[in-house]
Amino acid sequence: MRFTITRRTTFASVAAVVVSGCLWLLGTAMPVAADGGPHVGLANSGATTLAADSCGGCHRAHTAQGEMLLMQADEVALCLACHGETGTGATTNVEGGVQFASTNDGTGTGTVAGALRGGGFIEARIDTAHGSRVSYPVRLSRATYGTGFSSLVGVTAAGTSVTSAHMDLDGAMGVVARGVAWGNGALNSGAGPSVSLTCTSCHNPHGNGNYRILNSIPEPTGTGFVATDAALDVPDGLLPTGSGAAGTRNYTVQWGRTLKDVTDGTYVNNGFAGTPSASAGDYWRKYLPWDGVPTWNGTGITAATGHAGDVPEYVPGDADNNESYRLAIAGWCAGCHSRYDGGVSDYITPTGDAIYTHRHQTSRTECTQCHVAHGSNAGMIGESGRMTYPDGSAPTGVTSGDTTTYLNSRLLKIDNRGTCNACHDPTGTVPYTGVVTTK
Ligand code: HEC
Ligand code: HEC
Ligand code: HEC
Ligand code: HEC
Ligand code: HEC
Ligand code: HEC
Repeated sequence: MRFTITRRTTFASVAAVVVSGCLWLLGTAMPVAADGGPHVGLANSGATTLAADSCGGCHRAHTAQGEMLLMQADEVALCLACHGETGTGATTNVEGGVQFASTNDGTGTGTVAGALRGGGFIEARIDTAHGSRVSYPVRLSRATYGTGFSSLVGVTAAGTSVTSAHMDLDGAMGVVARGVAWGNGALNSGAGPSVSLTCTSCHNPHGNGNYRILNSIPEPTGTGFVATDAALDVPDGLLPTGSGAAGTRNYTVQWGRTLKDVTDGTYVNNGFAGTPSASAGDYWRKYLPWDGVPTWNGTGITAATGHAGDVPEYVPGDADNNESYRLAIAGWCAGCHSRYDGGVSDYITPTGDAIYTHRHQTSRTECTQCHVAHGSNAGMIGESGRMTYPDGSAPTGVTSGDTTTYLNSRLLKIDNRGTCNACHDPTGTVPYTGVVTTK
């Protein structure tokens, strides 16, 4: 943890410099592009102006401290100067996993609007222990009507240390970086190449119009890493045009397009009004953030159109399914984890790979249904905790009192394998009630 403290002190001092460089930029009317903050593609590309003012917020021509002429010694420090716990240029704090009601003042103690969709790198607020579910009638392959589930995974009022994260930012004691791009590369090329990941392996700092400025071709550095040839674009909505909270996106798991929608609690969709509470929202259905267990719109499952299985799904093309986004984000994750991209029959048909031989489908269930993108605080106490990584390496255990938790919650949103029960009842015995049950 000593490392963390030193690092944060550095951020506080660099933040002031970074922000002063970007104030003009942030205070100016931006073109309506899909990107947020200083990451506006059309401005940084020179398409709308050849007098960009943004570059100096992150680069120095002659006195740069980091590679790529960055004004900070390293790129992560640059990002966290605004997006960190003690950052000062953004509303999102990816270390603590929250979005503030207004730009972070550098103390990290401002009013919290809600929990971030990606979880957090040091602490997260996912209520991993209290998943709830509601049953719906579905058509089983056995030709009778059975039960499927749809769940809600809520938000806790305070942050808890993460037990897994995509990058090790919590210092020496917590998450242990494995540094392997699991499943990347050709069949039978091992568990995956050794790589190092930074924020820009996944995000384009200059903006590109994609959802969350995600790189069209995600790529960490490392020998043997195989990047995709084709662009994996994830479509985005328009950036809101107001000023302050009304012009800032909602990055929480609550309803609403803008941060103002969240702080006011006024946004209503599908019959669910938002709730002005930092602990409102749902991590489970965050591709279409619900603020209550969703009611089925009634159009998905019928004897004629319902698929055979025990999981309720909207039919392809149903607007409530938000399919284009779900498929795009799953394809994007597979830009690095290529051998995780499973089709619906892969549970029977072998892939030919010695490690990733059979796999759960991801063509109907996107990766971010089960996983968060940054970090999770889920607890893995038993077998789920001891499970080795694909290369056979053991997880790291942490004992506190009598309880041993393993730092390998694998970015999942529910403790142990509650993830499976949130959709499946393998016993086929839970009746259809339509009533929400919380465990
Ligand atoms: C939010 C911070 C940020 C801003 C604003 C920014 N850059 Fe960058 N830039 C980076 C980072 C981080 C890298 C290195 C990582 C990468 O290439 O993605 C980089 C890399 C570059 C590179 C080399 C790699 C490449 O992508 O071509 C160029 C050239 C560059 N920036 C130019 C600019 C110019 C010109 C501007 C202003 C119009 C600008 N940058 C604004 C953060 C920024
Ligand atoms: C492995 C890829 C990956 C890495 C590494 C990564 N991100 Fe993200 N990030 C994502 C994805 C995917 C999302 C969208 C999450 C969602 O909506 O479910 C996201 C979302 C965000 C958001 C919006 C808030 C949220 O939580 O949804 C911010 C801000 C952000 N990232 C900043 C960062 C910074 C700063 C770093 C480095 C410290 C970083 N990211 C590292 C993939 C990554
Ligand atoms: C000068 C401050 C500043 C710096 C430095 C900075 N950002 Fe941002 N970034 C912002 C602001 C402001 C937003 C708008 C949302 C908010 O308030 O957090 C934003 C938004 C984002 C988003 C969401 C974009 C979207 O599509 O809505 C991502 C992802 C992100 N930043 C990642 C990064 C990464 C990665 C770095 C480092 C390379 C970085 N940022 C550096 C200020 C900054
Ligand atoms: C149905 C839920 C679910 C979906 C969808 C899902 N995962 Fe996972 N993932 C898990 C579980 C559970 C684990 C823990 C290891 C296990 O049980 O095999 C895991 C583990 C992982 C790991 C860690 C290495 C390992 O295998 O233990 C990676 C990497 C991963 N998933 C990537 C992905 C990617 C990429 C996608 C989308 C293409 C995806 N996952 C979709 C449930 C899911
Ligand atoms: C730029 C490449 C890249 C992208 C894109 C990417 N990952 Fe990863 N992922 C990695 C690397 C590298 C690791 C190993 C991190 C470590 O432990 O050092 C990893 C680790 C994981 C793990 C295991 C975490 C643990 O507990 O050890 C899961 C689960 C996972 N990724 C899921 C996802 C999902 C879901 C997405 C899409 C939102 C995604 N990844 C996108 C590179 C990527
Ligand atoms: C978001 C919902 C969801 C979650 C969470 C989920 N599954 Fe699935 N699972 C599905 C869907 C949808 C199918 C495909 C069903 C079909 O094709 O009829 C499926 C298929 C399967 C199958 C193939 C047999 C069958 O019923 O088609 C197995 C086995 C399975 N899942 C096990 C698991 C396990 C183990 C977990 C926890 C790691 C899990 N699932 C988590 C939705 C889910």
